[in-house]
Amino acid sequence: MIPWLSDLWGGGALAIEPASPRDAAKLAQLHGASFHRGWGEGEFEQMLAERNTLVHRLRQGRKTIGFAVSRMAADEAEILSIAVDAKHRGRGLSRNLLLTHLGHLAGRGVRTVFLEVEENNHPARRLYERAGFSVAGRRERYYKQPGGEQLNAVLMRRDLS
Ligand SMILES: CC(C)(COP(=O)(O)OP(=O)(O)OC[C@H]1O[C@@H](n2cnc3c(N)ncnc32)[C@H](O)[C@@H]1OP(=O)(O)O)[C@@H](O)C(=O)NCCC(=O)NCCS
Repeated sequence: MIPWLSDLWGGGALAIEPASPRDAAKLAQLHGASFHRGWGEGEFEQMLAERNTLVHRLRQGRKTIGFAVSRMAADEAEILSIAVDAKHRGRGLSRNLLLTHLGHLAGRGVRTVFLEVEENNHPARRLYERAGFSVAGRRERYYKQPGGEQLNAVLMRRDLS
């Protein structure tokens, strides 16, 4: 557990820690509130049971308010998802979550991390750029919105060393 600030906003100490299967329902709820195609509780349960998947939760006091998920293969990993509860955004919390997550990936032998992000997702792109990721490619019309709109993705990478 890594508490790094306490009670600044009256909500209890902040901590980033490995998620457990008991977190699946809460993580699915957070994911569903943050993305058009939410992952279900069963999908989180499965990921939390897989050895090649790393999941961290961001907790304030007793509440889980964010998460980061990545999948590892040999010395590479892909960040599959990261989100912070909308009520807690804009406070820089995702930065510590991401950097801690990357530190654990490095500890597992990962040397290169990739991710895809919607081109106009400015908070996420800023988060990744500030965490040392750079643009490695672009995928046209990669994300399909419920209304039929198609959005471009940017592929980003960062070397961990
Ligand atoms: C992306 C996300 C995790 C960022 O979490 P957060 O804790 O609110 O992030 P921060 O407060 O550190 O903000 C990140 C950066 O974006 C900037 N930012 C915030 N809103 C912005 C906006 N509307 N336009 C441009 N930049 C913005 C912040 O100023 C900050 O940059 P800075 O460090 O230079 O000040 C959060 O917005 C989220 O959960 N979004 C929904 C899920 C999602 O899109 N995940 C990423 C999928 S790839």
